Amino acid sequence: EEMTPEERAFQERIDADQKIEPKEWMPEGYRKTLVRQISQHAHSELVGQLPEGNWITRAPTLERKAILLAKVQDEAGHGLYLYCAAETLGISRDEMFEQLHSGKAKYSSIFNYPTLTWADIGAVGWLVDGAAIMNQVPLQRTSYGPYARAMVRICKEESFHQRQGFHIMMKMASGSEAQKRMAQDALNRFWYPSLMMFGPSDKDSVHSAQSMAWKIKINTNDELRQKFVDQTVPQAKYLGLTVPDEAVQWNEEKGGHDFSEPDWDEFFSVLAGNGPCNKERLQARVDAWDGGEWFRDGLMANAAKNKNTSEE
Ligand code: 3HC
Repeated sequence: EEMTPEERAFQERIDADQKIEPKEWMPEGYRKTLVRQISQHAHSELVGQLPEGNWITRAPTLERKAILLAKVQDEAGHGLYLYCAAETLGISRDEMFEQLHSGKAKYSSIFNYPTLTWADIGAVGWLVDGAAIMNQVPLQRTSYGPYARAMVRICKEESFHQRQGFHIMMKMASGSEAQKRMAQDALNRFWYPSLMMFGPSDKDSVHSAQSMAWKIKINTNDELRQKFVDQTVPQAKYLGLTVPDEAVQWNEEKGGHDFSEPDWDEFFSVLAGNGPCNKERLQARVDAWDGGEWFRDGLMANAAKNKNTSEE
């Protein structure tokens, strides 16, 4: 398809690495893609609080409780920056919540897996936040200004999250035999779901080509997955743990590790709502929304009252 002069001028700005700001002209597809990606990212931050919140009361020490509580609060903050960034594109927060609660909008597949032991909280920080950073550091250079700027702060906090997870893993992996077994079991269960976070393989990624042309995405899904494996395999070795994939091996020629693809049938099944915790996660969000209704109503009533008073 031929580009219109407006579209061509827009693409030239993107190609020159100029940031696009909220009130500026943009192609409808660019706006829609951003709303989809940013809102799904925001939803992931909120739903991502659930598997970890599950362990706040059971963290082994007061210090671990305080750290985990702070981390889960950070995720809420990330959600808020991202909802704000999406709102600048002309969608309301109510609409985005409606899309999440009705199952229309996605959130990251990873949060549909359970956190069964304390070591899982280590694995989530190490692997899940590690994968999130791998994906989000390049997004600091994404073409949409508000999204890029939100990502700067989010990445700083994610780095702290990743380190706290790795620290839990270090403790567990160098602890008793039983603790070491728990650490290995957590790695076994979170390895492939973490690889799935980067999205389907490039040949099945419907949005990548256009999103990369618009610099909404900077790398392909497979590029980031490879970088993640290359970063994580030596870390597992340092911990004395084994990545649950016999195909993992350094490949001198390609300058990266060989590894097995995740089970893509499982991935698409989780996306379709059939992962181990999909129903529970969505229900928790819907309950939180319904449970907060009295509070929202109270705020609105109070705002209306103040408005009437000030108009008198
Ligand atoms: N989970 C759920 N859905 C996924 C997915 C995953 N891991 N990977 C891909 N999908 C979906 C896509 O949303 C798309 O569906 P849609 O058309 O209904 O939206 C479909 O699968 C096809 O995938 P594509 O590769 O074509 O989609 P994208 O170009 O959007 O790429 C992405 C997927 C790499 C996840 C990209 O959207 C992205 O970079 N998003 C921003 C980062 C993000 O959302 N991260 C969430 C991670 S968790 C997190 O940040 C919380 C942390 O604090 C723990």
